[in-house]
Amino acid sequence: MSEPLFVFHGIEKTFAEVEILRKVDLSLFPGKCILLTGKNGSGKTTLLKIIAGLEKPEKAEIELSGKSRCWKKVMPIIRKEIIYLHQQAFLFSGTVESNVAYGLRFTSLTREQRRESLKKALEWSGLTELAKQQANTLSGGVQQRVAFTRAWILKPKVLLLDEPVSNMDQESREQACLLMQQMKSSGMSIVITSHVPQYFDGLADVQYDLSNGQLLQ
Ligand SMILES: Nc1ncnc2c1ncn2[C@@H]1O[C@H](COP(=O)(O)OP(=O)(O)OP(=O)(O)O)[C@@H](O)[C@H]1O
Ligand SMILES: [Mg+2]
Repeated sequence: MSEPLFVFHGIEKTFAEVEILRKVDLSLFPGKCILLTGKNGSGKTTLLKIIAGLEKPEKAEIELSGKSRCWKKVMPIIRKEIIYLHQQAFLFSGTVESNVAYGLRFTSLTREQRRESLKKALEWSGLTELAKQQANTLSGGVQQRVAFTRAWILKPKVLLLDEPVSNMDQESREQACLLMQQMKSSGMSIVITSHVPQYFDGLADVQYDLSNGQLLQ
């Protein structure tokens, strides 16, 4: 197997004196998909947010290129390389293309490169026809697809998808799974949370259940 992109060791998190995560270890590999299941309130979202650098753990060591560092030190790196997608797609008011292109303004790409990148991304997700449509007029499933594309265009090393298909009908779900499969094939590392593991048969390489603050394979 190839080298892991990030190795998280001993993640600990407590809310109001309740231990949510107890020494959780997780390794993220390129081109691999982890499925995370667990009861409501078991800590799945909390774990993803810590991995994305959005929530502060009490403790955590992160191994990057073989070197172990504390969460605070690597936070700027993980915030750049790891994108967390919330269950409800947060789209900005404006068109589909302005939503998809949003993150590119913070990159060093030229105008021309940004335009090219946007075109490719819209083609990738089958949104070209909808490019000029107001994003908030789209169905929930299509909005989620816009959110995927907005993340994909930034080429993160890791994409964390929190219940990505829970509002979707079968057709949208299959489309979304196809996009996730393509993300995987392009070398992205993906972590998905879900209450319905069967949706990800064939996509997930490993499944962990979060229970009592620990991951069980
Ligand atoms: N900011 C916060 N302050 C206090 N408690 C919190 C906070 N965020 C989460 N919690 C608590 O931590 C626990 C884990 O929440 P989390 O959202 O991570 O669970 P989850 O596994 O994602 O649940 P679900 O399946 O419902 O999405 C819950 O008991 C929740 O109430
Ligand atoms: Mg959650």
